[in-house]
Amino acid sequence: MKAVDWPSELNKVPKEVFCREDVFEREMERIYKGPQWHPVAHQCEVPNPGDYKTMHIGPVPVLVVRGDDRAVRVFVNSCPHRGTQLKTCSRGTSRAIECPYHRWAFNTRGELLGAPGLQDFPAGFRKEDNGLKSLRTALLHGVVFTTLSAEVADLETYLGGTPEYIARALGGDGRLKLMGYQKVTFATNWKEYSDNEGYHAPLLHGAFRLLQWQGGKGVQFIAGDAHKVTAAELGHAPDNGFLNDPSLIQLFDRSRAPQSIIVALFPVSLILKHLDVMTIRYAIPRSPDSTEVHYAYFSHVDDSPELERHRLRQASNLLGPSGLISLEDGAVFNRLHVGAAGGGTANFQKGVGDLTELRTTLAQNDEAGNLVRWEHYRKLMGFDRG
Ligand code: FES
Ligand SMILES: [Fe+2]
Repeated sequence: MKAVDWPSELNKVPKEVFCREDVFEREMERIYKGPQWHPVAHQCEVPNPGDYKTMHIGPVPVLVVRGDDRAVRVFVNSCPHRGTQLKTCSRGTSRAIECPYHRWAFNTRGELLGAPGLQDFPAGFRKEDNGLKSLRTALLHGVVFTTLSAEVADLETYLGGTPEYIARALGGDGRLKLMGYQKVTFATNWKEYSDNEGYHAPLLHGAFRLLQWQGGKGVQFIAGDAHKVTAAELGHAPDNGFLNDPSLIQLFDRSRAPQSIIVALFPVSLILKHLDVMTIRYAIPRSPDSTEVHYAYFSHVDDSPELERHRLRQASNLLGPSGLISLEDGAVFNRLHVGAAGGGTANFQKGVGDLTELRTTLAQNDEAGNLVRWEHYRKLMGFDRG
């Protein structure tokens, strides 16, 4: 692979890493298939035995299944016979998993039930050796994490100080109900998507100003190797006449603090809460130029029907891909990617300090926290600083 020309300055990132196919291929091997835990579902997305959900970890298709014993397992979504993708729907329910090609059938625990023509298979063929490939999984506040790596540390070690914030973002205890999804494909590199930070928030987003929604008094810190947590109090949203119906931006759930919490897990996933919106954003890098994001929205099991309706309305209207708060991000992700082809470096400035060390505790609206993530990325990818 051609070398990457990584500058010696701590605040510079070479734009070629957003565009090069060979860099993308190495990322899939070293990062996505490497020593990382990835959230692939909340267990409420597969509430009943036989429920399943499809997802990808980088290029690898996975199948999250609630077994008839109620355990949630994650399998590679590929038939152990010749490799056909087993399920193609986003979500569904089936009592058995049948491959369409030669009708091998598996139970919800991934065990091979039967295969047509078994009498003509070699004598040593054993059904026990031909079940679905099961991946290492771990649960935290109902979030199902999985990994393709045998080497990665246990989930608790990997997540560093994030679990407390994950709990706060997911209703305090992670006892959730799925409300629905929005899905979007951004014309951008996955790192341009995950490089989002607090500096731009009051500047890019007209809605922050129009709604006078949020100050800059929060904190931002790096947890574990490269996860980024941002937590801020939210001021009470005033009725300044911008919205015909200001209830859209009110906090209904008074049992929980009025906070904005964003847990950006390395490499690309987000778990977040703003006002009454609880979301996990799963992202799938499809190519150097394309990133698919699935927004899953949740309510809490103890919600009244009224609160559940409010959460649903607030979710897509504020923070979905076309929401008041988030609409502009997609446009900027695309413009970042077009601009990256111009070469040179992306230069981080706000909150970087004197550039002799990387800062892990920052102000809410700094962009320097991303540099810790970039340093982690650079080392995983084996790029030397020049
Ligand atoms: S590839 Fe699945 S049964 Fe043959
Ligand atoms: Fe934004």
